[in-house]
Amino acid sequence: MIAHDLDQARAKLAENMKIDILNLTQEDENVKARHEVSRTFVSDTITVPTPEMFVYALKTSLGDDVYTEPSTLLLQEHMARLTGKEAALFLPSGTMSNQVGLRTHLTQPPYSIVCDHRAHIHKYEAGGCAFHSGAHVVAAVPRNGHHLTLDDVKSNVMISDDVHFAPTTVIALENTLNGTIIPQDEVIAISDYAHSQGMKMHLDGARIWHVAAETATPLAELCAPFDSVSLCFSKGLGAPVGSCLVGTKAFITQAKRFRKLFGGGMRQTGVLAGAAAYAVTNNFPLLPKVHALAKELEVGLRELGCEILSEAETCMVFFDPAPIGVEYDELILRAAALPDPIKLFGSRLVCHIQTSPAAVQDLLELVRTIADEKKAAGFVPKPVTNGTNGTTRPTYRDIYVRKPHLAKGEESTEASKA
Ligand SMILES: Cc1ncc(COP(=O)(O)O)c(C=O)c1O
Repeated sequence: MIAHDLDQARAKLAENMKIDILNLTQEDENVKARHEVSRTFVSDTITVPTPEMFVYALKTSLGDDVYTEPSTLLLQEHMARLTGKEAALFLPSGTMSNQVGLRTHLTQPPYSIVCDHRAHIHKYEAGGCAFHSGAHVVAAVPRNGHHLTLDDVKSNVMISDDVHFAPTTVIALENTLNGTIIPQDEVIAISDYAHSQGMKMHLDGARIWHVAAETATPLAELCAPFDSVSLCFSKGLGAPVGSCLVGTKAFITQAKRFRKLFGGGMRQTGVLAGAAAYAVTNNFPLLPKVHALAKELEVGLRELGCEILSEAETCMVFFDPAPIGVEYDELILRAAALPDPIKLFGSRLVCHIQTSPAAVQDLLELVRTIADEKKAAGFVPKPVTNGTNGTTRPTYRDIYVRKPHLAKGEESTEASKA
């Protein structure tokens, strides 16, 4: 081809490459999306970055994180400090952060991981423990229906010379788990036991922020019993992307290798680290209000006669409207058909930093309306005897009322009154 023809061919190729993903109504659609998110109780991953978050993120550095990215490095150092660990690693997702963490701990198969049967690493990471680490997962059922105890762990670990067993190498806890908080004393007891047996402790702390906010406990104290912790910026804190794995320097050095192997080595991550830093700084303080909204939902649903399957210890409440004659599907459809729709999924209602208090009231009003219709049609509401409405299961406040953390030498107002 002569030079002129080459130029023409390149111009044609470039023309074909063009794409404009901004449609003409994008700005209006984004305004709508922001409103929809404020009325969506499906997950706290369904939040949207704010313009302020973007403005901050755009000012970050432009390095390559497979080598070293300055803003990301600052975020990692901050996370290591906050969690009381030596080092931290920024990763694209909570799933990768958990799986890289577990893979880094698991070196010589055969081995097993003991976790709660409801744990994200077990149920919702696409079989990652088996795929990435070849690990056998022992999914333990907490006998108290709330959180794993030392006794549960002891009766599920495999410590034996018997060759039939895959020795337990890691105990993986999740806090919060379905929005509930594990008593820290229990975490410490499990950790002491695990370490005495040469096992590692991993925490899926995707929402450990909520525990810190609810119990006024520093992250370092919550993370101290663990060898590794995964924290997510993209859930309760509302960043668009990103998680962080923390641990010792040696652990994070090896985890960085696995991050690359898993395909999670990212390049210009400054903008993502910026959004995460903005979220930690500006959105963490919003969590107590989020928890209060979830509590409002719980109280309202309980008063209307719904069964509360799991109390709003933090940002989630699980409920069943069957006792008032309402099915989930019906409620989901009616909520979606409101003039200002509400999005629901099923038994789980999640509040987040962008949930509007009006949406909470509108949802309760809708449940009340449908319940009244059912009554008018002859349905007799059933007394609620199960779940936390009755007394069959321990509740968060029965088992874990923690005094706000006080720094050494600081006195509580209660104490100084006495
Ligand atoms: C407790 C918990 N851990 C881990 C994850 C995984 O995070 P990601 O969706 O970023 O992979 C989630 C996701 O919602 C989660 O709820």
